[in-house]
Amino acid sequence: MDNNVRVIETKNLRKEFNVKVKRDDSKVKEVATLKAVDGINIYVNQGETLGVVGESGCGKTTTAKLLLGLHTPTGGKILLGDNDISHLTKKEMKHFRRRAQMIFQDPYESLNPRFKIKDTIMEPLEIHGIGINKEERYQMAKKILEESGLKPADQFMERFPHEMSGGQRQRVAIARALVLSPDFIIADEPVSMLDVSIRAGILKLLRNMITTRNLAGIIISHDISLIRYISDRTAVMYLGKVVEQGNTEEIIEKRYHPYTEALLEAAPNPDPELKFSLKKITGEAPNPVDLPTGCRFHPRCPKCMDICKRMEPREVDMGNGHRVLCHLYSEDGE
Ligand SMILES: Nc1ncnc2c1ncn2[C@@H]1O[C@H](COP(=O)(O)OP(=O)(O)O)[C@@H](O)[C@H]1O
Ligand SMILES: [Mg+2]
Repeated sequence: MDNNVRVIETKNLRKEFNVKVKRDDSKVKEVATLKAVDGINIYVNQGETLGVVGESGCGKTTTAKLLLGLHTPTGGKILLGDNDISHLTKKEMKHFRRRAQMIFQDPYESLNPRFKIKDTIMEPLEIHGIGINKEERYQMAKKILEESGLKPADQFMERFPHEMSGGQRQRVAIARALVLSPDFIIADEPVSMLDVSIRAGILKLLRNMITTRNLAGIIISHDISLIRYISDRTAVMYLGKVVEQGNTEEIIEKRYHPYTEALLEAAPNPDPELKFSLKKITGEAPNPVDLPTGCRFHPRCPKCMDICKRMEPREVDMGNGHRVLCHLYSEDGE
């Protein structure tokens, strides 16, 4: 398998929201700019899974929505192959929709409760005019359900979502996304609503689908202990920036960025061979409306230097595509 075919890539991608905030004692609300995604450069190759990890509010879902055309970027580009897809017409968008699919956090909300499973899976085929007739679409739906682990499919086709467990519903959502044979899929916190005991099975299914169908996959989670076992590459986000990215094994081993290190130290660690100290970062991430000066992680960083308070770090390539956004590794010193 050629792992170097780039399917999707962002260049300095940004999304700002205008929000109303109340400052101090002021009675009136003012409009402020919230930088949800603030200039990110990520990519995913064919057959590869990119894990995107970071605390709640750091811009993961906004990134997913940008990649799927559900938000218009404030700046930067999204490349699908060689084509810039950041501003598509309606017609182009319909074609693009087939190539890019999303799996949401809550499989109950993402499935129509009034649709039988067979209709849920056959609907996107009808919308995109795939399959010569209903019978063919029915067979396609059956096949993808079985591939998604719902066997024998006949037992599930006539059911409604409420007649299934959370894990089974998420398998249906995966089947619905994959029946269109997309080029890439994004799963946003796909197991966080599910029982811990069934999470691994769902993640394994996603991972296998991405590998065997040679898709580009993005799996988003706030939990690095989960991302580390399923992603080939990992991007760590903090307040709208990707602060470290590279091969997952290297990220785990080298953890250059103090934020990556903090995430790993805070995560439950099922591998007893690896012993971490339990030093954790304190406090919550600041509000993306009032970003700290300099490096936005500096108020929480255990390795904060003087320069970090004044100057934004530039991304440094540590070799092998492992990139880090931190003054500890740059030559910006005074
Ligand atoms: N539609 C929106 N309008 C205003 N602010 C938003 C909107 N969507 C997200 N945000 C803000 O953008 C930031 C990033 O949110 P999100 O991408 O959902 O983070 P994550 O998925 O990592 O938890 C948060 O501060 C959130 O409140
Ligand atoms: Mg989210």
